[in-house]
Amino acid sequence: MKYFVTTAIDYTNAAPHIGHAYEKILADVIVRYRRTQEPAFLLIGVDQHGQKVQQAAQKEGIAPAEFANRVTDLFLALWEKLNIRRDGWAATTDPRHRRAVQKVLQALHDKGELYKAKYSGYYSVRQEQFLTDRERNADGEFGAEWGEVILLEEENWYFCLAKHKEWLLNFVRNRPGFVIPAFRHAELLNAIDRLSGDLCVSRPKERLSWGIEFPFDPGYVTYVWFDALLNYVTFAGYEADLGSGLPNFADLWPCQAHIIGKDIMVPAHGIYWPIMLHAMGFPDDQMPRLAVHGWWNIEGAKMSKSLGNVVDPARLVERFGADAVRYYLMRDIATGHDADFSVERLLVRYHSELANGFGNLVNRTINMVQRYRSGRIRKTGSGDSDIEALKASAVAALGRYKEAFDQFLPHAALEAANDLVTQANGLVELKAPWKLAKDPAQSDLLDDVLFYLTETSRFVASLMAPIIPSAAEKILQQLNATVYNRLAWGELPDQHQLATPSPVFPRFEE
Ligand code: ME8
Ligand code: MG
Repeated sequence: MKYFVTTAIDYTNAAPHIGHAYEKILADVIVRYRRTQEPAFLLIGVDQHGQKVQQAAQKEGIAPAEFANRVTDLFLALWEKLNIRRDGWAATTDPRHRRAVQKVLQALHDKGELYKAKYSGYYSVRQEQFLTDRERNADGEFGAEWGEVILLEEENWYFCLAKHKEWLLNFVRNRPGFVIPAFRHAELLNAIDRLSGDLCVSRPKERLSWGIEFPFDPGYVTYVWFDALLNYVTFAGYEADLGSGLPNFADLWPCQAHIIGKDIMVPAHGIYWPIMLHAMGFPDDQMPRLAVHGWWNIEGAKMSKSLGNVVDPARLVERFGADAVRYYLMRDIATGHDADFSVERLLVRYHSELANGFGNLVNRTINMVQRYRSGRIRKTGSGDSDIEALKASAVAALGRYKEAFDQFLPHAALEAANDLVTQANGLVELKAPWKLAKDPAQSDLLDDVLFYLTETSRFVASLMAPIIPSAAEKILQQLNATVYNRLAWGELPDQHQLATPSPVFPRFEE
């Protein structure tokens, strides 16, 4: 069994933004941490079908596949740049996905979970969608933004949701851990309570051709959520053909966390998805968990193309490097809550916590060991009470760190690491090794101070490795300790020889 984590699959109708980057980094960081404890698997991907992709392609006069592939390449390039280490790639136009989705549709059809029905309602020709009362403006009309609105009758395929409502209510009530953070649980239960009606899961091909065809009704394609949600199982090997190259489903399922944004918990992931799995025959103990994160806003406002405030994560990486961006996006938000993005905040965090905090500790520690001890550390067991206090804090920090990760809270894990850095930097001031070095009677104490400053540097590098993998690796190299990259305290041996220091967190001009 592997610890299996997925993210939302990103919609390929437009270029990646900071919200996409945040979610993939969060997942990557959690899985990198998990891999230190057990085998783990990260699946990320792209949602390539749908109306908006078809429309965007039409506007440019190219095929939807060409448009989707071009945007997909932007996502792939960004994940490389950001050091996202994926184990699986869910691209919904993959023929293996199409075949598995069609098998699921057929099976649900055979079980009587799908039915065809006529719907008639107001339809926006410009937006190519049916309108409901929610789309009416204050005067009760459909505004000019919808263009021509006509009364349209259309036949479509529906998936039975309503008949599973009681099952879902009971399941979610009895499984408080189904959604984390816990404060979302009540929100989901309320939404299930209000559930009525079934889910339209098709579009006639005349209206939308860019989708997966219904195997038993080729005039229709599946629409948005059905094809998209199924990626979590199809790319984990569910209904895969022999020799497909996909994982063994039993090694991965049930998923430990679908990491998603708060906008897609209700109804898609909290209602449609568990009901789909239930209808497909998954027992309750094979249901996944949802880890729901909040949103990055830009100066308090929602990110939007029309406001022109969309931040391009690729440019940020070019300016500050992957680790600075990863660190900021993990550090300045509490999973589940929203945060405000700003480059100034990124620089404040980076300079105070990485350059002046951790970076300074590492740099001065290696420099002092080189200057006073030719790079070799010695463990003398001085019994000094400040050193004992640092050791106790390190052990406590590891506990806080692991607990934070168990709750998907990397910001709290980093807080634990940073508190330890502050204490270690305080020990440097307190013990003033440059004074100890002048007094032969203090030689053992100097050795012990240098030993534990070095071990703290090594330990914090291991703690930070899931968040800032490249910088942590460089620091471990300077400590000559890449083989001691472990989430445990007290790994460096007596007489360990360090390599040469060089600053890992250069300062940026504002
Ligand atoms: O919703 N801050 O795709 P998507 C944080 N294809 N996260 C954000 C965000 C922001 N400002 N904006 C978006 C889709 N996200 C569907 C998902 S899953 C079967 C199908 C998050 O490209 C959003 O919450 O619009 C979602 O989790 C992810 O980015 C992809 O959003
Ligand atoms: Mg969206």
